[in-house]
Amino acid sequence: MSGKTAAIILAAGKGTRMRSALPKVLHPVLGRPMVAAVVDAALDAGFEKTVVVVGSGAEEVETALTELYPEAPLAFALQVAQRGTGDAVKAALPATTDCEQVAIVCGDTPALCSATLRALFARKIEADAPLCVATFEAPDPTGYGRIVRDGGGRVERIVEQADASPAERQIREVNAGIYLADRAALADALARVDARNAQGEIYLTDVVALVAAGGGAVATLRLADPVEAAGINTRAQLAALEQELLARRRRALMDAGVTLVDPGSVRVEAGVEVGEDAIIGPNVQLLGHTRVGRGARVDQGCVVTDCVLEDGAHLLPYVVATEAVLRAGATAGPFTHLRPETDLGPKAKVGNFVETKKAVLGRGTKASHLSYLGDCELGEDVNVGAGTITCNYDGVAKHRTVVGDGVFIGSDTQLVAPVTVGDHATIGAGTTVTRDVSPGALALSRAPQREVEGYYEKRRKPREDEKRRRMVETAPVPKTGGKR
Ligand code: UD1
Ligand code: CA
Repeated sequence: MSGKTAAIILAAGKGTRMRSALPKVLHPVLGRPMVAAVVDAALDAGFEKTVVVVGSGAEEVETALTELYPEAPLAFALQVAQRGTGDAVKAALPATTDCEQVAIVCGDTPALCSATLRALFARKIEADAPLCVATFEAPDPTGYGRIVRDGGGRVERIVEQADASPAERQIREVNAGIYLADRAALADALARVDARNAQGEIYLTDVVALVAAGGGAVATLRLADPVEAAGINTRAQLAALEQELLARRRRALMDAGVTLVDPGSVRVEAGVEVGEDAIIGPNVQLLGHTRVGRGARVDQGCVVTDCVLEDGAHLLPYVVATEAVLRAGATAGPFTHLRPETDLGPKAKVGNFVETKKAVLGRGTKASHLSYLGDCELGEDVNVGAGTITCNYDGVAKHRTVVGDGVFIGSDTQLVAPVTVGDHATIGAGTTVTRDVSPGALALSRAPQREVEGYYEKRRKPREDEKRRRMVETAPVPKTGGKR
C-alpha cells in the first residue's frame, strides 16, 4: 500500500429492532461487543488509523472501545443525526485528511475478517480502480442494495431495495457494505450525493454511480463467505450468527487437536485459547480470556471465565471458576466454586463444596471437602480437613490467614484471621484458631467431653413410650366390612 490508510467503521445507527437500552454495536457476540470484532479486523489488516462513527449511544460506545483498546490508533467521529450511511462517512472524513485510501465497514457485521480487507486492497490495485466494493450472491437478496451492471458487465450503480424496480429486485448480486476507496474520489463524490430517494437518506451507495459516471472503474470483490457481511439487526439474527461462529470455532479447535466430547453443547468465546490434547466435556462454557493448557481437562457442566488452566490441570464436573489459576496438574471439583484470585499450585487439589477466593494454595496442598478458603495463603503439602473455614471477615474488614508448609488442619477447624500457622503445625479437629500457631506445634481448642450415664433409659425412652401410646389412642378405628 502506498500512502496512509484509514478504516471507517459505521456505528452510529440506533439499532431500534434490538429493543435494548444497550447500543446495538455493544451487544456481545461470543463474549465481545460486536463492534470490537470489526475493530479487530481493521487493526489486524494494518490500517494506520481506525475511525469509528458514533451517534446513537455515542458516549457509551466510545467509552467501551477506549477501555478495550487503550493503545490502538482509534479515533471517534460524531454523526449528530443519523441521516444515512453517506452522511456517516462524511462525518468521519475530517479525521482522515492525512490518508490516501479509506475502507468503510459496518459496526454490526461481527464476522468480518481482516483477510477480506486485505483482499480488497489487492483487488483494487489489480483493477486499478478508485473504488472497490465487496459483493456476494444472495439466495434471498431482500433488504440489500443490488449491484446494477451494464451490458459489458461494468458496475453502473447500486440501487437500494426501497428504490429498486421490480426487475432490479431480481438481481442476486448484492452490496456487502464493505468498501475501499481513494479518499479524494470518495470525498468528491460524497459532496455531490443528495437525499432524493425513497428513504430521504444520504446513501453512501450513491457514490458508486458518481464514480462510474465520472469515468472511474468500480471494482468488485466477490465474497466467498457471505456470513462475513451478515449484519445484525435483531436478537434472533444475533443468536443465529453466534451459533454459526460458534460452530466454526468448535471445528477449528477440533482441527487443532482438542477433543470436544459433545461439540454441539460446548460454548467457547472469542478470547479463549485451548491447547492440544485438551479434553472438553459436554455442556462446558469456556468464557472471556480463559486459557486451557495442553492435555488439560474440563469435565461436564463447568463454567470457566477468565481462568488459566496450565498443562494437565483438571476440572471435574460442575465447577464454576472465575479468574482462577490452576497450575500444572492441579485439580478442582466436582462442585467447586473458584472465585477471583484463586491460585492452585501444581498438583494441588480442591474437592466438592469448597469455595475459594483470593486463596493461594501451594504445591500438593489439598482441601478435599466442604471448605471456605478466602484471603489466605497455604504452603506446600498442607492438608485441609473437611469443614475448615477461614473466618476472613469481621464485619468491617478482611484479614489474611497464612499457613506454612506441611501443616495438618483437622476437620471442622475455624481459622480466625488475621492468623498465622507455622510450618508442620498440627491443628486438632474442631479447633477454633484465634492465635498464631508455632511451627511444629499442636493447637487444640475443644470443650472437654462429658458423659451422662443411662441417659436413654432415664430421659429419652419415657418420652418415646408416651408418644407411641398417644398415637395408638388417636388412630382412626378401621370400619368393618369395608372394601379392602
Ligand atoms: C446498507 C447499504 C446496502 C447494503 C447493506 C449491507 C446503504 C444506503 N445501503 O444498507 O446497500 O446492501 O448496508 O449490509 O448504505 N449508519 C450510521 N449512520 C447512519 C445510518 C447508518 O452510522 O446515519 C450505520 C449503521 O449503524 C450500520 C451501517 O451504517 O452499522 C449500515 O446501516 P444500515 O441502516 O444497516 O444500512 P442497510 O439498510 O443495511
Ligand atoms: Ca444493515
